[in-house]
Amino acid sequence: MSEHVEDWDPRSEEALTRPRELFDRMREECPVAWADWRGWSVFRYEDVVDISRDPATWSSDDAWDEIDPEDRAIPLRIDPPDHTRYRKMLMPLFAPKRIKAHEEKCRVMAREMLAPLLAQGKGDWVSAFSGPYPVRTLCQFLGWPVEDAEQIQEWSETIVSARVRRDIATFRKMAAVWNDYIDHFFEENRRNPGENVSAWLLEQTFDERPLTQAEMRSIMRLMLQAGHGTTTAAVGNAVAHLAQNPQDQQALRDDPSLIPGGAEEILRLDNPLVRMQRVATKDVELHGKLIRAGEEVGINYISANRDPRGFPDADKCLLDRKPRNLLFGVGIHTCLGAPLARLELKVVLEELLKATSSFTVDPDGEITRKTYSRNEHVTLPLLFTPA
Ligand code: HEM
Repeated sequence: MSEHVEDWDPRSEEALTRPRELFDRMREECPVAWADWRGWSVFRYEDVVDISRDPATWSSDDAWDEIDPEDRAIPLRIDPPDHTRYRKMLMPLFAPKRIKAHEEKCRVMAREMLAPLLAQGKGDWVSAFSGPYPVRTLCQFLGWPVEDAEQIQEWSETIVSARVRRDIATFRKMAAVWNDYIDHFFEENRRNPGENVSAWLLEQTFDERPLTQAEMRSIMRLMLQAGHGTTTAAVGNAVAHLAQNPQDQQALRDDPSLIPGGAEEILRLDNPLVRMQRVATKDVELHGKLIRAGEEVGINYISANRDPRGFPDADKCLLDRKPRNLLFGVGIHTCLGAPLARLELKVVLEELLKATSSFTVDPDGEITRKTYSRNEHVTLPLLFTPA
């Protein structure tokens, strides 16, 4: 039993169905809140930024006690000084040249997957496009068979939900399944190095020694987990907004140079990633609440990104707003894969807007959403009018 008084219920009907409204209210009425499920939460822009920028007070190592240290995600769950070195080593993977080289494959995949939807004139965006697209393109980026994408997506959903539920047995079982799958590519590339991320990792060093098998597995597992669910949620939420706001849709169609910034502004208002975790390394008092050393704090991007204290006219979608929002986080753990995610968002919206004269929500279907661990669409029935 917790000694704290519960301030809110992150598993309430409102949290599951109208998360933005709930998180907006928490930000205004109870900026630091306790819930027995998931511990402390902060909601305001400044608090999320301050916590993200102070890794000495707010550690990212929120691994549960039972978890094997080698299962900690590198670099997400690692604090400085090791984080700095891992991050420096991994940065070249997302260098502009590598991302540029990936663009054409992303575009071809987008066109292929859009074609049946346009031919039918209707379809569920999530199952037909935003679900499978990011994992397929991620497979291409990593140099893995696209045919494995569906299986990877399923494993990934199971492992993410096991983590959220603190279900250690499932988490361990799935980590072992991942490791076997990942090891197979390392073995293959040891024998016959190819042009892919496994081969690249085999050549990297940390502290002047090659990476261990455990480190390479952890990096690969993180890329798989961090690299497509978030993008699926982002591509779903962005397209949902455009389907429901024809003036914004037309503005991006008329001026595609607005697409990259416009997409991030849309996602500021409907943030795909609800929160990330930190652990207090010492007692801290915040807005009158005492957070004790060792307690977990969720930094809620979903509300911070809508905070009027951080954004003038925060509730307005201004497609040309200067992009400086928290979509990809802030501080030392800022999303490493952001260049890849930005590329995918841009390519999908460019191809969709170019191929249609309009798309709208299908009134015969039903939009459904969920909140944890991502704020995303589960179904998004659309009608397409080809260009
Ligand atoms: C729209 C899609 C995405 C969103 C919204 C997103 C969001 C984020 C956020 C907010 C963080 C910071 C976490 C923290 O501070 O604790 C993060 C970290 C990270 N993301 Fe993403 N991400 C996306 C796509 C990707 C992709 C495509 C990849 C790679 C393939 C990726 C890999 C990572 C990694 C490796 C980290 C850890 C960085 C570190 O600890 O230094 N993400 N992401």
